[in-house]
Amino acid sequence: MAGKDHKELLSAKLERMSLRQKIGQMTMAERLSTTAEDVRRHSLGAILCGGGSHPGNNELVDWIAMNDAFWQAAMDEEGSPGIPPLVGVDAVHGHGNLKGATVFPHNIGLGAAGDPQLVAEIARATAREILASGLEWNFAPALSVARNCKWGRSYESFGSDPALVARLGASYVEALQGERVIACVKHWVGDGGTWQGMDQGDTALPWEELEATHIAPYLPSLQAGALTVMVSFNSWNGDKCHGHRFLVTELLKQRLGFAGIVLSDWNGIDYLDADYAIAVRKSVNAGLDMFMVPERWREFIDTLEGQVREGHVELARIDDAVRRILRVKSRYGLLDMPRPAHRAKTGNADFACAAHRDLARKAARQSQVLLKNERQALPLGREQRILVAGKNAHNLGHQCGGWTVSWQGESGNGTITGETIWQGIQALAPQAVLDESLDGSGADPRLHDVAVVVIGETPYAEGHGDIRHGDHLFAEAGAMINGLMNPLDAYAKSLVLAETHPEDLACIRSIAARGIPVVTVLVSGRPLIIDAEIDASAAFVASWLPGAEGRGVAEVLMGEHDFSGRLPLPWPGPEHGDGLLVEAGAAFPAGHGLGLSATRQRLGENAIDATSPEQVAGVRRI
Ligand code: GLC
Repeated sequence: MAGKDHKELLSAKLERMSLRQKIGQMTMAERLSTTAEDVRRHSLGAILCGGGSHPGNNELVDWIAMNDAFWQAAMDEEGSPGIPPLVGVDAVHGHGNLKGATVFPHNIGLGAAGDPQLVAEIARATAREILASGLEWNFAPALSVARNCKWGRSYESFGSDPALVARLGASYVEALQGERVIACVKHWVGDGGTWQGMDQGDTALPWEELEATHIAPYLPSLQAGALTVMVSFNSWNGDKCHGHRFLVTELLKQRLGFAGIVLSDWNGIDYLDADYAIAVRKSVNAGLDMFMVPERWREFIDTLEGQVREGHVELARIDDAVRRILRVKSRYGLLDMPRPAHRAKTGNADFACAAHRDLARKAARQSQVLLKNERQALPLGREQRILVAGKNAHNLGHQCGGWTVSWQGESGNGTITGETIWQGIQALAPQAVLDESLDGSGADPRLHDVAVVVIGETPYAEGHGDIRHGDHLFAEAGAMINGLMNPLDAYAKSLVLAETHPEDLACIRSIAARGIPVVTVLVSGRPLIIDAEIDASAAFVASWLPGAEGRGVAEVLMGEHDFSGRLPLPWPGPEHGDGLLVEAGAAFPAGHGLGLSATRQRLGENAIDATSPEQVAGVRRI
């Protein structure tokens, strides 16, 4: 990404800026707490549109108008340094916040597809849709290495293998920035390794393991030129990353040579101390450059100004942070770009175009992992009388998961554009029927040859997705905000699906008891303990969170394409209620996944046998 090098211009601007203007550049406010006049008056460096925070009617024109107004205000040189803000969003599986945007599978499904080229195509498509909305910055990709599937953010990870995360993450960064959107690799560092998978908890590891598992995946992305890094809420051995000088300054900036922006997470500095001034001081001196202080940004500016004036923060540290921010804005070309409303890619026709939806369908298809296929249940035949049942069969919100239109995700089919899994099956097998009862009571062996039962989780994001046994709170010190523990209500207490969602097993059993073979499709953000469900099923597919193009799932169920997905992490067995993602005792190993091998694929009249040794073995060599 090569904007002109504005060294002289930026140095001159830096020289002319007041302390408050410099601190303003270090401040990222949330759009709901900020006006265009605020951006001008306080020289705000960035604006974020948090999960579910969308302007106006959440149409493309509303997003364009929002950033254009911020830009115009910033460039009103009257009393301001004339530096535009960067506007960022969590487009973590497509521009999911924005109604109508293309919604791709979440990262765990892309890990199952395991294809860096596919990830690059998705990053480019996502970039085009971000640019269409007039924004510049994507808080993605997450380079989390999931080590415990009780973690509510497991689905934001490409998997449990650091090498896979490294490869797919770098592919995403190169493609996104190549398409001229700023990447933000996150969360630095160790977010997927916390004790019991508790979000924002403590990652207690020796240095060697932290380096090999959680730091290594960042290296290719940093080498690819990622322009920003977001610091993680978690702690390392009890010390919060947001105040960790070694991890941020000595390691990331000095040893690894990162020259871009180190960004805090949402009020992440609050954890450092109940005294906000000390929290601010610790985080700035640890080496963070920009601070995501969504609502309290005025207090942040005042507090940091006070810390500098009292000598607790060196002016040189402020200048280093602002120099990095200006360097990124210059390298991105922000200072040469026209206002958002006048940019070439703004409002471009790529937004939600057919090619992007086809790509999302391909990604959904390639992410499906076939765990079991007995009695030649799959592939389904068009001539079969197919019953489709289960709570997730016809629910776009559920198949998309969190970070889709709203932070926690949606339920139903009213707000997301796409095709449910049921609609995808119906398109390929018009005589299929949907059992609206959701509990399988509509099944009749006189009418139905086979049933597809789509089950699993309902949407969640961040700590709301955690599985926490019992009500104990964060185990590690420091997880307090102003002296109060801050756990989000957990999703459930158990990874055992039959305990968390008994309706799913009941539906499967109800249909199977009628002598109808069941093909179960699990829509979930992670592996779950599903022994009972899989035993009651003739075939079982891990669908992950496939996104808005459900026909991609239908295409492998119907044998239009073979299954190619492989587990990006071990699948816990019944004794792994602790959620640890380890091979010992796993129900299925990482890399597992069957093809429609012995079963004849139905491609219309041209049936072919797929009997490659790899498909028969069902394991991909990662
Ligand atoms: C959240 C997440 C982070 C996200 C940020 C902005 O708390 O931890 O991944 O980018 O806030 O929405």
